[in-house]
Amino acid sequence: MTIAYLNGDFLPLEQARISPLDRGFLFGDGIYEVVPSYGGRMVGFGPHMERMKNGLAAIDIKLDWDEAQWHKVCDELIEKNGGGDLGIYLHVSRGADNNRNHAYPQGIEPTVFGYTFDIPPAPVADRGTTRTFTVTTTQDMRWKRCNIKSTALLGNVIHYNQGDGSDETVLYNAAGEITEAAACNVFIVKDGVVATPDTDHQILPGITRLLLVEILRADGSIPVEERVVTLDELRHADEVWLTSSTKEVGPVVMIDGAPVGEGEPGPVWERAQALFSEFKYDY
Ligand code: PDD
Repeated sequence: MTIAYLNGDFLPLEQARISPLDRGFLFGDGIYEVVPSYGGRMVGFGPHMERMKNGLAAIDIKLDWDEAQWHKVCDELIEKNGGGDLGIYLHVSRGADNNRNHAYPQGIEPTVFGYTFDIPPAPVADRGTTRTFTVTTTQDMRWKRCNIKSTALLGNVIHYNQGDGSDETVLYNAAGEITEAAACNVFIVKDGVVATPDTDHQILPGITRLLLVEILRADGSIPVEERVVTLDELRHADEVWLTSSTKEVGPVVMIDGAPVGEGEPGPVWERAQALFSEFKYDY
């Protein structure tokens, strides 16, 4: 039985109730985070909280919680849910008004919700046994504020589901530049150099992306560039990776039915995932 947190209480998930007038339900008017936790240790907690704070400020939801309060809720969720390999979902919506109205209502309390779900064990940096991913590509049809981790995910949901059986959908803009995937950030490797799209309004600034770039730069043996990455470069890359909190660094072996490099996880992936595994708890 999963234990959830809702507006101050811990309770069985199936007993958690919100109003149908909650603006998260009616408008997708909210912000969320997914923090990974392995055996009770969270990855990137500080950066996840910073992104949530930025998201709440961007849509003018006032919630005067500090990091310690969030940490306490996360620790209790982890403990009450067995402390294994967990994704901690945290969600703040603007709250329930007494009517449906586009204007931001004043004087209502935000709804704060959290629960955990099982995630796969953290990947092991072994090319022979790791999980691999196939992707399709399509033009990014989402809005111009993709840097906000909004609960309004219909654009992402549509893109995620149009892949015809592939694991993910990689998106590019009208100029043929990669933005991200429906629920992941994207990296390529060419001639030993790693590249990933810059963070701007077109992509979510992923925490796994942030940690990976910092870890690779601190190590120094693999050059990393944050820059425009084109669809053409993606198609001709030696390696392609997806990053997200629930996957860490995921090697892509097939794009639109064509193999990436040799069609297997590559040596740079193995080194990058090994470094990520070693240093991910330092942030
Ligand atoms: N997805 N881009 C998008 C659109 C995402 O939804 C996600 C995460 C990422 C990767 O961000 P991070 O490394 O912080 O997880 C990039 C989460 C896991 C989700 O919606 O379930």
